[in-house]
Amino acid sequence: MRLLIKNIKALIATYDSNPGTIAGQKMSQLPSINDAWLAVEDGVIVDYGEMKDWPGISDWSQLTIVDAEGGYVLPTWCDSHTHTVFAKSRALEFEDKIRGLSYEEIAARGGGILNSAAAMADMREEDLLRDAQGRIHRMILNGTGALEIKTGYGLDVANELKMLRAIQQLKATCPIPIRATLLMGHALPAAFKGRMDDYMDHLENELLPKALEIGFDFIDIFCERDYFQVCHLEQILKISKQHQKPAKIHVNQFYSIGGVQAAIQGNALSIDHAEVLTAQDLSDLEKNPIIVTGLPACSLFTKIPYTPARELMDRNIPVALATDFNPGSAPNGNMNLVNSLACIQMKMTPEEVVHASTQNGAAAMQLDSEVGSITIGKKANFILTEPLEYLSELFYYFGETRIKEVYINGVKYEN
Ligand code: NIG
Ligand code: FE
Repeated sequence: MRLLIKNIKALIATYDSNPGTIAGQKMSQLPSINDAWLAVEDGVIVDYGEMKDWPGISDWSQLTIVDAEGGYVLPTWCDSHTHTVFAKSRALEFEDKIRGLSYEEIAARGGGILNSAAAMADMREEDLLRDAQGRIHRMILNGTGALEIKTGYGLDVANELKMLRAIQQLKATCPIPIRATLLMGHALPAAFKGRMDDYMDHLENELLPKALEIGFDFIDIFCERDYFQVCHLEQILKISKQHQKPAKIHVNQFYSIGGVQAAIQGNALSIDHAEVLTAQDLSDLEKNPIIVTGLPACSLFTKIPYTPARELMDRNIPVALATDFNPGSAPNGNMNLVNSLACIQMKMTPEEVVHASTQNGAAAMQLDSEVGSITIGKKANFILTEPLEYLSELFYYFGETRIKEVYINGVKYEN
């Protein structure tokens, strides 16, 4: 199958070879080619260039030609932090929130993650899978071409394994690359009240071996003052090292309790949330940069600070952006909204946002050899925009979309 896109206003994020993680200060330099073409064969990017240097490929048989008519082409979004597998909405808590309760107050009343866990226990695996497939379908239509999904609403062995199997099924049935994260330690179930250490040991002894059999890519924990502590994060980092499952961890959402330092020490792949970073956290990250994933839809929905992306990038720390799609703190899987929020609220330029939501997101899932940039040999997962005057219009019209078509493995993704 051969596909050629011509008359592209600008082909964005063109790299001769996989650039790996883009450091903070480089994120503003977004390579692109004006008035360009892009060639795809068998789902892979095979060539690109300027229209004036058109090589002429009349010998290509069965070639599909798409006229971009002045639209931009850029890599699809790489959403590196989501909880896309969940049982049902928490719309009733949404109403509590409107009446003034905070995320933590709702959780303290037995709502929050425990509420999602109760619904998870009642849900059949095939229904979980069907609902998640529907969510992913909408995410792809909004330009997402690679995705990470966490367990963490099971809170017991059987239900965590059910979630993990559903994620593995999604990997097998969805057209985009998906990474599975075992979220070991999300909330403390009632049966372990007052026994957090025992719960963590229980997960390590009972859940982990069975999860390793099913297979997963990354490991995670919610390290936070009122949830799991730094010692539990250290336990996860030890497991990460033992089983070579890189850690992507929830830290510093509400308080800075030493999670950043433990993550640095334990070689985490990314630290996610990081809405609250002290001067010490920033200076430690500057000395030991790891990908920091901002989740601005969570900040918007739960009314907490935004990850200080500008301060991070100015210190040359790489930043990624993701949706955190989940029923409690960010019920939205649309990366376009995330990107607009990053521009509006996080002082990120459109160029920085593109890097954060493509290549750095891909690197935060160790998928950057496959997706994240327009590079020969990478998957032809790309977005074609409507004709635009400026690339920034993609984010400027917030809450709307200027995406015209999404291509996955070189094939136009249909509704
Ligand atoms: O990333 N912070 C922890 N976990 C999720 C929210 C989970 C929930 O409220 O259901 C998050 O925001
Ligand atoms: Fe999360």
